[in-house]
Amino acid sequence: MLVNNKEFRTVWMEEGRVYMIDQNLLPFEFKILGFNDYAEVCTAIRDMTIRGAGAIGAAAGFAMALAFVQAKDKNTDSFIGKARQEIEATRPTAYNLFYAVEKVFDAGMRSAAAAVQEARQIADKDAGDSQRIGRYGSELIGNNSGIGTHCNAGWLAFVDYGTALSPIYHAHAAGKELFVFVDETRPRSQGARLTAWELNQAGIPHAVIVDNAMAAFMAQGKVDMMIVGADRIAANGDVANKIGTLEKAIAANYFNIPFYVAAPSSTIDWNCKSGNAITIEQRDETEVLYQNGPDKDGIRHTIMVCSPGSVALNPAFDVTPASLVTAIITEHGIVKADTEGMRSVLM
Ligand code: MRU
Repeated sequence: MLVNNKEFRTVWMEEGRVYMIDQNLLPFEFKILGFNDYAEVCTAIRDMTIRGAGAIGAAAGFAMALAFVQAKDKNTDSFIGKARQEIEATRPTAYNLFYAVEKVFDAGMRSAAAAVQEARQIADKDAGDSQRIGRYGSELIGNNSGIGTHCNAGWLAFVDYGTALSPIYHAHAAGKELFVFVDETRPRSQGARLTAWELNQAGIPHAVIVDNAMAAFMAQGKVDMMIVGADRIAANGDVANKIGTLEKAIAANYFNIPFYVAAPSSTIDWNCKSGNAITIEQRDETEVLYQNGPDKDGIRHTIMVCSPGSVALNPAFDVTPASLVTAIITEHGIVKADTEGMRSVLM
């Protein structure tokens, strides 16, 4: 995607170094970080320097590849085994992470070069899948549509293009008029900070709304469809996505508004029978209790936004039952959110 007229991916590997856009600084500062050590990439995933299902998957694949490169001259088996465990422990919900680590690990059994090549292929595939999701998804978008989104499932959350935003980019490029309702997505504000920044860069009309406003805009007839991403899809079509997705799906269902999930097949965990079996990441309460950002002079501050002394609960994801999902937009086409629907197209 273009940032100030220059082409960028969210994460890539070049000459043995892994590079990524620092998403914690966006939208206020655009900075690229580079790492030689898999453990540094683990920290970046954990602290959300890089986040979003596909981007986490690609970064984890590159981390695994780095570990194979680093393993030279070390006790290879125990070093690689420990590295794999550390990478897999960074974020438990996004399935793309486990998908990528397994593939790169298997390739690394042949050679470190094969691991690097596999990690690059996973990143390229993620970008290509997102582009194809955009082509299929844009067919669902009519002219003059109001579209609701949640969290960020744009190109920053993948290697390029994104999932939920990719159909929107494609429809906009095809000349369709549209307006995007971007909810803030507390506590990390991926909607207000990242989705809004992406849409600004692309010149797509949108407004940031508070997290509890989507149902009101639906009731006014302004939202024609919802498109969200997914962090893990169970074999029965249940969808784990950023906390708050479930209540958007319930509201959409009440108002008879189509609720689409856009995700590549690498997000489907066929071994997971239903949403009940998905591990939901519990994040630190400080994300809820404090907010950060620059003042008018650009100096960054962290401020408390809750009553001192209160504790906070911070589940990062929720599970939307398949029955509330109109369809899943995949790289192979639009499928029903159930085992048969997904298998018929994807396996
Ligand atoms: O916690 P994050 O920012 O890594 O959350 C992932 C997400 O961006 C969302 O859940 C998204 O809607 C789907 S995955 C791109």
